[in-house]
Order: sequence, then structure tokens, then C-alpha cells
Amino acid sequence: SETFKVAVLPGDGIGPEVMAEALKVLDAIEKKYDVQFERRHANVGGAGIDLEGKALPQTTIDICKAADAILFGSVGGPKWESLPPDEQPERGALLPLRKIFGLFCNLRPAIIFPALTGSSTLKESVIEGGFNLLVVRELTGGIYFAEPKGIETVDGVRRGFDTMLYTEPEIERITRVAFDIARKRASKVCSIDKANVLSTSVLWRQVVERVAKEYPDVALSHMYVDNAAMQLVRWPKQFDVLLCGNMFGDIISDEAAMLTGSLGMLPSASLAEGSFGMYEPSGGSAPDIAGQGIANPIAQILSASMMLRYSFGMQQAADAVDAAVEKVLDQGYRTGDIYQGTSGETRVNTVEMGDAIVAAL
Ligand code: NAD
Ligand code: IPM
Ligand code: MN
Repeated sequence: SETFKVAVLPGDGIGPEVMAEALKVLDAIEKKYDVQFERRHANVGGAGIDLEGKALPQTTIDICKAADAILFGSVGGPKWESLPPDEQPERGALLPLRKIFGLFCNLRPAIIFPALTGSSTLKESVIEGGFNLLVVRELTGGIYFAEPKGIETVDGVRRGFDTMLYTEPEIERITRVAFDIARKRASKVCSIDKANVLSTSVLWRQVVERVAKEYPDVALSHMYVDNAAMQLVRWPKQFDVLLCGNMFGDIISDEAAMLTGSLGMLPSASLAEGSFGMYEPSGGSAPDIAGQGIANPIAQILSASMMLRYSFGMQQAADAVDAAVEKVLDQGYRTGDIYQGTSGETRVNTVEMGDAIVAAL
């Protein structure tokens, strides 16, 4: 049987709680298909700081390097917010992981499951018939990474600064991914920018236009990010692929997540060239509900499904996981974040939701 090496990085807050459910799903996949997932657990984020003195310990990096893919929970929380910024879980671990492994492409698919149309905050008339949009977010460039950045005092005045910078190759690379994927979907790309203000966006638009000429079969449109934020809640069905830089993609994907009923539903794949990837829920460590065992594990489980699909080439198994999630939602299982209180719904906790999905498999 085939063996894949998975680095398991649960992290902080709800990370370990939802990770446990994703691992149960991997157990079920091992039984159902002729495959083995050799898992190595490693500390990351606040857990890395508390247990090994660093948000991203070298042992964790080594375990990731030896793996075929990384399954990541989430990092961060109030406990570590007063540390120097570069030592905190987000800037000390998550961003470096993305950089070290060249994870330039972040896919965040926002799909409304038919059973959850009532859990979306949008009117049924706006979302009936469903929508299926994919945020393609550039993940290793832009204002998140460019230097200089910092806080300094000049003439007695403190100031903070970041640099927004994109190179033409960076834009071209993520644009090609967006167009290649669009071809396998509804063949529409909407590129999100702020070209009326930002130079990076002016270049972004030029590069996207140039690359688009090689994809005459894909319809390209451009939209300013402020309008896009509005259009997403006005009429989400107009979108297929949303191509975004790092920061706009971060913001737009949380908004897209909520259209599906909850941030706890939205998985993501952070991909390098080739088959290596890190698979992480789009949401965070949710300190407000951590430790209560009530978080929605579906984003983590669907992230594991994306790992099967994109890093291991296991389309069938990935489809099976997605179908199991859809089935339990049809059966009415709901964690608190997607619970409406209508008849036919059963309110469940994190473990019960994981169990139901495993049973459906
Ligand atoms: P968050 O995504 O953690 O939470 C936002 C809201 O969504 C909260 O009300 C939370 O309860 C809810 N939510 C998120 N995931 C959920 C789930 N699976 N089930 C049910 N509800 C869920 O964002 P935040 O509160 O702005 O940030 C908290 C911490 O998480 C911060 O330290 C932040 O930096 C970090 N963060 C980490 C990641 C990551 O590791 N990938 C992503 C986003 C935020
Ligand atoms: C995400 C998160 C991260 C990001 C933070 C925690 C650094 O919000 O994965 O969306 O902004 O990329
Ligand atoms: Mn985010």
C-alpha cells in the first residue's frame, strides 16, 4: 500500500480540537482505501513558544521538510499578543512556514451546501440554487512580507510602516494558477485590486491583462476591492474565481466564508510549485470558543480533503470526504456556529460532528 508522510501541526486554541477530528477522518480513509498516512506531530505557534521556546522550532521545520504535506490547525491567541511581533505565533510561525515552503498559492473555496442555505446570513432569494466561488490568494508576497516594515520614532513621533510590493513574476505566477483553475470551472476570473490608488495594483492589472491573452476562453473582469466586498454580499453568484493579492485575499475570503454559513466551514490549501502543500482552515484559533469542545471541525476536515486531492492525488477519497460532510449536513447535524434551531437539526459538539462524518464515510 502507498504511504504518505503528514506533518501534523495542531497549534493553538481550537486547533488541537478540530485537528483531532480531521485525524479520525484520515484513519477512516486508511481503512477504506489502500493507503497509509505516517503522521508526525510537531509544536507550532503558542504551543511552540510554551513547549520549546519558539513559535517555529527547528524540530518542527525538520518534520515539515521530511513530510509530503503539512496539516495545520491554527495559531495565535491573547496569551502571546504582548510578545515582540516577530516572536508571536502568526509572524513567528505561520508566515515563515508559508515563506520557507514557497506556498505562494492559497486556494479558499466557498461553496454553499444546500442544507445550509438557512445558516447563511444572506436572504434565501440571494443564495438559492447555491454558489461556488474560489478565492485564489497570493500568499508569499505583498504587504505581508515586503521590507522595510517596522515601528520607529522620528523627531519624537512614533510611526509604523509596511511596504506593499509585488514583482511581475510574483503576479504572473499566481495569475496563471487562477486561469488554469478557472478553465476547469466556470471559466471566469475576477481580479481584485485597488488600481485607482495603489501602484502595486496598477502593475497587477497590467500583468493580469497580459497573461489573460493566453486564455481567450476565460472571461476576465477587474474589480476594485471595496466594490468586490460589496458585490460579494449583494450577488455572490456573479463570481467564479476571485484572484487576489495577499491582503485583499485574506479579507475577501473571510467574507466569502460567512456567505457559506460560518468561517468554521472554509478550508484552504496553501500550495507550492509541485505537489507540496500546507492545509489549513481559513479561520483562526477562535479564542472565544476554545477549550469548550464546540468548534466546527468541518473546515479542518475539508482541508484534509484538499490535502488528499492536491498533494496525494487521491481524488476519489477526497470526493468521499466531501460527500460525507454534505451527508451529515443533510442529516441535520449542526455545531453551534451553523445551528439555526429549526426542526430536523441536531446540535452537536466538535467530537460528535467528527464521529458523524466518520460514520458517513
Ligand atoms: P478567528 O477566525 O479565530 O475567529 C473569528 C470568529 O469566527 C470567532 O467568533 C470564532 O469563534 C469563529 N470561528 C472561527 N473558526 C470557527 C470554527 N471552526 N467553529 C466555530 N466558530 C469559528 O479570528 P480572530 O478572532 O480574529 O483571531 C483569533 C486568533 O487567531 C488571532 O490570534 C489570529 O491572529 C489567529 N488567526 C490564525 C489563523 C491561522 O492560524 N491560520 C487564521 C486567522 C486568525
Ligand atoms: C489567514 C490568517 C493569517 C493571514 C494570519 C493569522 C497571519 O488570517 O490565514 O487568513 O492573514 O494570512
Ligand atoms: Mn485571515
